[in-house]
Amino acid sequence: MKTLNYLNLNENKVANVVAALQNLLADFQVYYTNLRGFHWEIKGRGFFVLHEKFESMYDDAAAKVDEIAERILTLGGTPENKFSDYLKVARIQEVSGVTSSREAVENILETYKHFIVEERKLIELAEEANDVVTADLLTGYLKEQEKMIWMLVAFSTRSCENK
Ligand SMILES: [Fe+2]
Repeated sequence: MKTLNYLNLNENKVANVVAALQNLLADFQVYYTNLRGFHWEIKGRGFFVLHEKFESMYDDAAAKVDEIAERILTLGGTPENKFSDYLKVARIQEVSGVTSSREAVENILETYKHFIVEERKLIELAEEANDVVTADLLTGYLKEQEKMIWMLVAFSTRSCENK
């Protein structure tokens, strides 16, 4: 039995959505491990704030990993779970040894910039496939990431720059 027979979605069009979700899953897994590193290695005056913040961000990334994987399954695909496979398709670079808050936040902002581009493309693919649920899921991610960009930019801006 195939889930797509019941979902009433076009198999060929949905295959494009599944392929793009697999890449997004790989990106989120690499992003997750990068955040773990930031949480562990951050140093300096912002430690207590950022150590906690990175934990809440990697928890959020882990939840999204699961949502993306289960959406792939719902659409009849099989999510990858091997990190060696993620690294073959991920467009996010692994990073380690980041101890400065500036470098960590810049890395996260660049990652979000990438996610936003890829998620907008994925929303178009999903809409072409009439897959409004995937489009809605990713629109929710975009909404959160756009707001987080505002907050990270505000965090990174020295107050004297606004005077
Ligand atoms: Fe911890």
